[in-house]
Amino acid sequence: MAAAGGCCAALYSFLFEYDTPRIVLIKSRKVGLMNRLVQLAILAYVIGWVFVWEKGYQETDSVVSSVTTKVKGLAVTNTSALGLRVWDVADYVIPPQGENAVFVMTNLIITLNQTQGHCPEFPDKTTVCSSDKNCTEGFISTHSNGIQTGRCVVNKGHSKTCEIFGWCPVEDDENVPRPAFLQGAENFTLLVKNNIWYPKFSFTKRNILPTINKTYLQSCKYHPKTDPFCPIFRLRDMVDAAGQDFQEMAVEGGVMGLQINWDCDLDKPASRCVPKYSFRRIDNKDSSHTVSPGYNFRFAKYYQTPEGVETRTLIKAYGIRFDIMVFGKAGKFDIIPTMINIGSGLALFGVATVLCDVIVLYFMKKRYYYREKKYKYVEDYELGAGESYGSQAENQQCRDVR
Ligand SMILES: *[C@@H]1O[C@H](CO)[C@@H](O)[C@H](O)[C@H]1NC(C)=O
Repeated sequence: MAAAGGCCAALYSFLFEYDTPRIVLIKSRKVGLMNRLVQLAILAYVIGWVFVWEKGYQETDSVVSSVTTKVKGLAVTNTSALGLRVWDVADYVIPPQGENAVFVMTNLIITLNQTQGHCPEFPDKTTVCSSDKNCTEGFISTHSNGIQTGRCVVNKGHSKTCEIFGWCPVEDDENVPRPAFLQGAENFTLLVKNNIWYPKFSFTKRNILPTINKTYLQSCKYHPKTDPFCPIFRLRDMVDAAGQDFQEMAVEGGVMGLQINWDCDLDKPASRCVPKYSFRRIDNKDSSHTVSPGYNFRFAKYYQTPEGVETRTLIKAYGIRFDIMVFGKAGKFDIIPTMINIGSGLALFGVATVLCDVIVLYFMKKRYYYREKKYKYVEDYELGAGESYGSQAENQQCRDVR
């Protein structure tokens, strides 16, 4: 092609020549077997782990859900302060409307008929006094029940304490009632209604399954073996399932987690997509660290006496909060993740070649011989014919090996 110009020669070779890499075939049992073993391991990983176990052929979506709850049950108490009394849902569920979390009062300290006025402060280190000199007018601390008036007065039964202006009489919350006031709370039930939605697959379902009828729902109680799909949970069963003691937890309160897991393979029938319930105690109940345990808060109910005096009933409520947490992931066959995983699986086979190359060229006894066969050595154009790089010397060694 000497007749053609430089440009035409390039075009000619572009059109009418084909180049392809040369492959070196090494007839070695060791290397051959190693190569196949590595390939086999990669194949097992791609098929076994990526496709079968991790379902790499599926598109996935995470759950969107809504939860509503309803607690039922009655408890009866009989104490000298309150007399015989029945507690129903409106008394012990606070606030009355339950969403993802529902609080059930199990224990309480009740202070009746508080009015604004003067009375002795609750006795502690800073409020016990022997004379007016120990009390400071206008003093308030974070633990105060009111503003100190500067007088030291007799506290019934106890020693003398500073007088305060505030809601009187003050609350005595030194001792938590033990056993818990509403022991009957162990038999209360919690109905959980949960709707889920997988938007990518327009798949919806609720935890009251289509197979559940009205009479079953009225009588069933959740049990992991016999009634795993009944959405009504006895409070004590939930606490037991979390490995805790209900009556112990009821005294100081705590937080329980009710987890609903909706892991669904939507390549299978929709009826196989069912909720799985599990329970755990979320607040950290560490027996070695018992400072400020449990869960409690205060609220009051206000009313006016016939004389028009504003009066309140103060309640310090201890109880168990049930947090309902919904998790889930659904998968369904889709061509894009399938192709991506096949592609990356094929690319992984390159690892076998790289690994075998490294071993053959750097670690085997006959490495110089293999190197000579694999590489075509070319002298640098500017160097004289006599001089060369180390490659020449290595070539020499290879011949020796041979
Ligand atoms: C809860 O119910 C069981 C069975 O009905 C009963 O034996 C138990 O005494 C009840 N618990 C309380 C604290 O009332």
